[in-house]
Amino acid sequence: MDHGPTSQNDRDYPLPIVVSHVQIAPLLQAHKAGAATALCSPDLGLSMVTVELTAQGVRFPNDELLCWDDAAAIADEENKCWTLRDGEIDDIAFFSEQTHWMRTLFPTLSAPTMLVSGITMHRIKGVNPLEDTLRKIKTIAPLRGRVLDTATGLGYTAIEAAKTATEVVTIELDPAGLEVARLNPWSRALFTDPKIKQVVGDAYAEVPTFADRSFARIIHDPPMFSMAGELYSGAFYKQLYRVLKPNGRLFHYIGDLESASNRSLVPGIIRRLKEAGFKRVTRHNEAFGVVAEP
Ligand SMILES: C[S@@+](CC[C@H](N)C(=O)[O-])C[C@H]1O[C@@H](n2cnc3c(N)ncnc32)[C@H](O)[C@@H]1O
Repeated sequence: MDHGPTSQNDRDYPLPIVVSHVQIAPLLQAHKAGAATALCSPDLGLSMVTVELTAQGVRFPNDELLCWDDAAAIADEENKCWTLRDGEIDDIAFFSEQTHWMRTLFPTLSAPTMLVSGITMHRIKGVNPLEDTLRKIKTIAPLRGRVLDTATGLGYTAIEAAKTATEVVTIELDPAGLEVARLNPWSRALFTDPKIKQVVGDAYAEVPTFADRSFARIIHDPPMFSMAGELYSGAFYKQLYRVLKPNGRLFHYIGDLESASNRSLVPGIIRRLKEAGFKRVTRHNEAFGVVAEP
């Protein structure tokens, strides 16, 4: 995803410095080797700045100081991302009172993913979250007209779809998920792109309120079946079929279609999609999902 230039001084959407072990571990090594300055990303890899490696710690161009003890703590923790504000670090982690899911931002060498109760919301093995997103979108390209994204998460599919669509309606059940997204530099366009309309609610209840045939494309990227079974139900698929245009296309993320756990799940999903009205359902294992067409 190309999110365009980012700025730590954007008054409309100020972001703190956000880093992980990926950015900070090399600074500890550079300091140990006697370097006085180094290049570092203040936004999980989206942009680079020159930082000073002082006796106290890492000094960023906006004068923020990351002390060496905090830098060592960040470098030692491979599963978390951290904000740096007013000299204090804070891990990006939210417990949801609504869903009772714990959410954390999980770093990779590319875009971060979100852990929900320990489960990653994007692929990170062999395929990074950015490539994962592009593969999902490619299955139903070109994305023009109105697009429905049933599960916002970090907003990656919504952001990618909004690059070519006229409008993207994206639904997120859990406000804590949006709290994590707000602190993720890679999710910035979710809050700044006027083409993206956010709905906070349950897709199972929200989709029935949309007009018939009102979307040209649907991206259905729910959590795994055991966390959100109703989003895999025939009743929900009927609603997706109803709101999709007759020449539209739906991408439904499932997970590795060949895995032992999914091999028994996929036939039921395809059957329920067909019972809901979809005539053609094709497997796209490169994107870990299926495409359904009316
Ligand atoms: C796999 S993630 C979506 C990833 C997203 N497409 C992206 O690109 O970042 C699934 C998201 O669906 C949300 N969710 C779970 N149940 C939901 C529901 N009933 N309605 C809407 N969102 C739901 C979860 O909170 C989670 O953030």
